[in-house]
Amino acid sequence: MLFEPLNIKNIVLKNRLIRSATYEKLADKNGYVTSGLIKIYEALASGGIGLIITGNALVHPSGMSVPQILSIHNDSYIAGLKTLTNAVHNAGGTIFIQLVHGGRQCYPELLGGKPPIAPSAVFESLLRVMPKQMTEEEVWEIIAAFGESAHRAKEAGFDGIQIHGAHGYLVSEFLSSYTNKRNDYWGGDENRRFHFVEKLMRAVRNAVGNDYPVIIKMNAADFINGGLEGDESLRIAKRLEEISFDAVEVSGGMYESDLKPAREQILKEEDEAYFRAYTKDFKKLLNIPVILVGGIRSKNVAEAILKNHEADFISMSRPLIREPDLPNKFKESKEKADCISCNGCMRFRKLDFVKCIHEENK
Ligand SMILES: Cc1cc2nc3c(=O)[nH]c(=O)nc-3n(C[C@H](O)[C@H](O)[C@H](O)COP(=O)(O)O)c2cc1C
Repeated sequence: MLFEPLNIKNIVLKNRLIRSATYEKLADKNGYVTSGLIKIYEALASGGIGLIITGNALVHPSGMSVPQILSIHNDSYIAGLKTLTNAVHNAGGTIFIQLVHGGRQCYPELLGGKPPIAPSAVFESLLRVMPKQMTEEEVWEIIAAFGESAHRAKEAGFDGIQIHGAHGYLVSEFLSSYTNKRNDYWGGDENRRFHFVEKLMRAVRNAVGNDYPVIIKMNAADFINGGLEGDESLRIAKRLEEISFDAVEVSGGMYESDLKPAREQILKEEDEAYFRAYTKDFKKLLNIPVILVGGIRSKNVAEAILKNHEADFISMSRPLIREPDLPNKFKESKEKADCISCNGCMRFRKLDFVKCIHEENK
C-alpha cells in the first residue's frame, strides 16, 4: 500500500510517504531561500517522496524561534520561494509549505531583545523566558499574517499549506489549557481556546479559496500536566475537519515536555511509530486523511499501519535527513532506514546547518 497513490483534497500524491516539516537552518540570515536549501529539496523530490512539507516558515517577525528560518512574512520572499517550488516541480515532486509563529518558544535574542508573545504570560522553563500576553490587537495581527502568508504561498507555487498547530508553538499554545490561561474570547474553556485557529482558518480560506489544500499538524497530547490530552484532542481534530482542514498530521509534545516530538533511540520495531495509538482513534473519527509522524523507520511497520487503517499517510523527518532517497530505496528492496534517532541533527546551535552527524562520523 505504501506505493499506492492517494489524494489530499484535489492533489494526487503518488505514494503514502511524506517528508514531515523539518527546519534546515539553511535560509539566509534574513529568511530568504538559498541554493543550499534548493539542493536539499531537489534531492528529496528526486528521492521519490510523495509530498514534501517545508521546514516551518515564519509568518510574522515576532514569531522567530530559530535562526535562519525560512520566511514568508512579506512579498519580498515570494520570488525566492518560487525558485524553490519550481525546482521541486521540475524534479517531479509535490510541495506544501508549513506556516508557523513560534509564540512563547522564542529566544528574546532572536526578537531584538523583546520578550516573545503568547496567549498568556506562562513562564517557559526550557528557554527561561517569560512571554508577554498578546493584546486583542496583536491576536488579530497574527491571524491576518497567517492569511497573508497563505496568499503568498499560493502565489509562490506551493501545492498546499500546512499550519503548524503542534509542538507548543503559537497555534498549539492557544489550543492548550497549559499555555492559554485567558478568560476572554480567546480562552477560558475548550470552545474559546479553539477561536484562534478558527479565525486563522477563516483568514487562510479567504486568501486561498476553498479548493486549495490546507492541512494542519497538531498535538494528540502535550505530555505536560494540565496540557492537551485524550478526548479533547479528538474533539479538536473533529472541529478542524468541520472548519475545512483537508488532513491532520498527528504529533505530540512541546519544548518543556518529557516526551518530545522527536524521541531518541528508536532502534526496535516496538518503539517505532510512537503516536500510532492516537492516530488509530483519529482515523475512526475523521473522514479526512490522517498522517502519522514520529519514529517510523521500517517498511513493514509502515505497511502494517496503512493496512490496519491506523493512518492514511506515513510522515518522516530524521530518516530523510540521512537518506533523502529513502522512498526510492524502500521501493526497491530496503527494509529499514539507516537513521538511529540519535538527535545529533537537532543540535541546531552547534551545527552550521541541519545534517546527519552519524553519517559525518562514519
Ligand atoms: C532537525 C529537525 C527539525 C524539525 N523541524 C520541524 C519543523 O520545522 N516543523 C515541525 O512541525 N516539526 C519539525 N520537526 C519534527 C519532525 O517533523 C517530526 O515530527 C519528528 O522529528 C518525529 O519524526 P521522525 O521520527 O521521523 O524524525 C523537526 C525535527 C528535526 C529532527
